[in-house]
Amino acid sequence: MLQTTSRLLAHAKNHGYAVGAFNTNNLEYIQAILEAAEEAQSPVIIQAAGSEIDYMDGYVFTDIVRRITGRMSIPVAINLDHGESYDRSIQCIQYGFTSVMFDGSRLSFEDNIAVTRDVVKAAHAAGISVEGEIGIIGGTAEIEDMLDHSQELSNPEECRYFVEQTGVDCLAASIGTAHGLYKAAPKLDFERLKTIAALTKVPIVLHGGTGVPAADIKQAISLGVAKINFSTVVRQACISQMKVTLADDPDNLDLMNILGRSKDAMKKAVIDMMTMCESVQKAENWQ
Ligand code: 13P
Repeated sequence: MLQTTSRLLAHAKNHGYAVGAFNTNNLEYIQAILEAAEEAQSPVIIQAAGSEIDYMDGYVFTDIVRRITGRMSIPVAINLDHGESYDRSIQCIQYGFTSVMFDGSRLSFEDNIAVTRDVVKAAHAAGISVEGEIGIIGGTAEIEDMLDHSQELSNPEECRYFVEQTGVDCLAASIGTAHGLYKAAPKLDFERLKTIAALTKVPIVLHGGTGVPAADIKQAISLGVAKINFSTVVRQACISQMKVTLADDPDNLDLMNILGRSKDAMKKAVIDMMTMCESVQKAENWQ
């Protein structure tokens, strides 16, 4: 059953877990995420960034998700990840997404507020929720040793003002994680997270979930994180399995066999992340 992200996050906050938000960009990848969620009886957010949406075609993406989700009992939200413009948000509302993220973190603070506010107006009119971003959550290669770059971490007072001015439903805060593979375990700024959650009173979104230790995920959830984004870990599972499949049988020309085995590996990775987020079984009797 399709739901808005804010309904999923409210349930997560009330029940002390986080909803995993998994990026996707092809059929097996969509199937892996949704089948994993159904198997684990976990609420789930399936999401795509602009380039992923263009690759799949937004209508095709939402049609496939709706078709599969229609047979399932778990709550599913479809989210735009790192929306780069107001127009992209409008496009995704038309595709039938149930939430959009506008990432204005590289704009000036004032411009970020202005565009996010417009996105919120349009999205709320369509009955869907919005994620905003304050502070820059870059790639792991871009931001090594992030706590030494404290200007890129979210400023709690700016977060409070931003949420108040824009009306976003949840907030991606930069607290020490980054997208991609970490060379060393990330150092999360839990004090900052605690202050941001207390000042904004909205669910906090943790980006760059790949490689964050389970204990840190647990602590982040206890301090107000209700959505955790994962991308690299699932793609890595897919490609590692593909290498094994082709090494075992270099002449394999059965695409369903090659992609099917990778799908199973992705499913396992998704269930592992859901277990860390403590969302397993939380879809039972969900309402
Ligand atoms: P990872 O690729 O590091 O898991 O990050 C995903 C993400 O935050 C998508 O917005």
